[in-house]
Amino acid sequence: MSLLTASNLTKRYSRGGKTVAAVDDVSFAIAPGETLALAGPSGSGKSTVARLVLRLIEPDGGGIVFEGDDFLALGGTALRTRRARLQMVFQDPLAAFNPRATVARVLDDPLRIHGIAPRTERPRRIAQLLERVGLAAALAQRAIHEISGGQRQRVAIARAIATKPSLIVLDEAVSALDVSVRGQILELLLDLQREQKIAYLFISHDLGVVRAIAHRIVLLDAGRIAESGDARAVIDAPRSAIGKALVAAAPRLDRNIRQDGSSTARQS
Ligand SMILES: Nc1ncnc2c1ncn2[C@@H]1O[C@H](COP(=O)(O)OP(=O)(O)OP(=O)(O)O)[C@@H](O)[C@H]1O
Ligand SMILES: [Mg+2]
Repeated sequence: MSLLTASNLTKRYSRGGKTVAAVDDVSFAIAPGETLALAGPSGSGKSTVARLVLRLIEPDGGGIVFEGDDFLALGGTALRTRRARLQMVFQDPLAAFNPRATVARVLDDPLRIHGIAPRTERPRRIAQLLERVGLAAALAQRAIHEISGGQRQRVAIARAIATKPSLIVLDEAVSALDVSVRGQILELLLDLQREQKIAYLFISHDLGVVRAIAHRIVLLDAGRIAESGDARAVIDAPRSAIGKALVAAAPRLDRNIRQDGSSTARQS
C-alpha cells in the first residue's frame, strides 16, 4: 500500500495577465520507507509540488491521499494529528527558524504542540533527539544563528523526526552544504530511514545526490512529468530530452552511499 498518493495535482499562477501551470497534472506515489526524488530544472515545479504535498498551498486540481485519508479534506484535530506524520526540511534553516531561538526551543515546539512529551520530560527528549542526529546535548542552549550550517541542518532533521513522521519532504535540504558535510547528512538520512522506516520526498537538482539516495525518481519539466522510474535506471539512461540534458550537465554521478542492501544498492 502506498503511504502517499498524489493524483493529477495542478497548481496555476497568473503571471503578466496569463495563467501558467506551475504544476500540471502530476501524479506519483510514495511507499513506506521509500525515497522518491523529485528533480528537474529551476522553475520546473519541484517546490510547488512540495508545498502542495505539505498543504502549505491548495491545488487547483487533483488529490492527495496520505496514510489512507483524503489529506486535502482533513481539518481540525485530524489534520493536526496527520501533520505530525508529515514533516519537512528546507534548504535554509536560518529562514525556517527564528535565528535567535535556542536549539532547545526549536526542538521543544513540536514536542509541546503535538503533545508528545510532558514539560518535565522534554529536556531529556531534546537531548535524545540531538544525540540521534549526532549533536552534543550542550548545543541545546545555543542560538540557531550561532551554530554552523551543517549543525543547523541536523537540528532541522531532529525537529522533523521529533513527531515520529512517516514521511519527510526535503526541498534542496543538502544543496547549501559543502561536500563532506553533505555526505554526512545523507548518511544520517539513510540511517534514520533504515531505523524508523521513514519515507522521503527528496527534492534536488543534484543528480549525483539523487542517484546515491533515491529509490525512484520523478523528473519534472515545466510543471509536467517528463520521465519517472528507478532512480539509477533513469539517471544512467535517461529517455526524455530534459533527462538527457540534466545528466549531460551533471558533474559526476559515481557516488554510492546507499549500503543497506536495498534493491537500488548496486555497485557503481
Ligand atoms: N507564489 C507564486 N506566484 C507566482 N508564480 C509562482 C509562485 N510560486 C512558484 N511560481 C512559479 O511556478 C514555477 C515553479 O516554481 P517552483 O518554485 O516550484 O520551481 P522549482 O522547480 O522549485 O525551482 P528551483 O529549482 O529554482 O527551486 C516557476 O515558474 C515559478 O515562477
Ligand atoms: Mg525550488
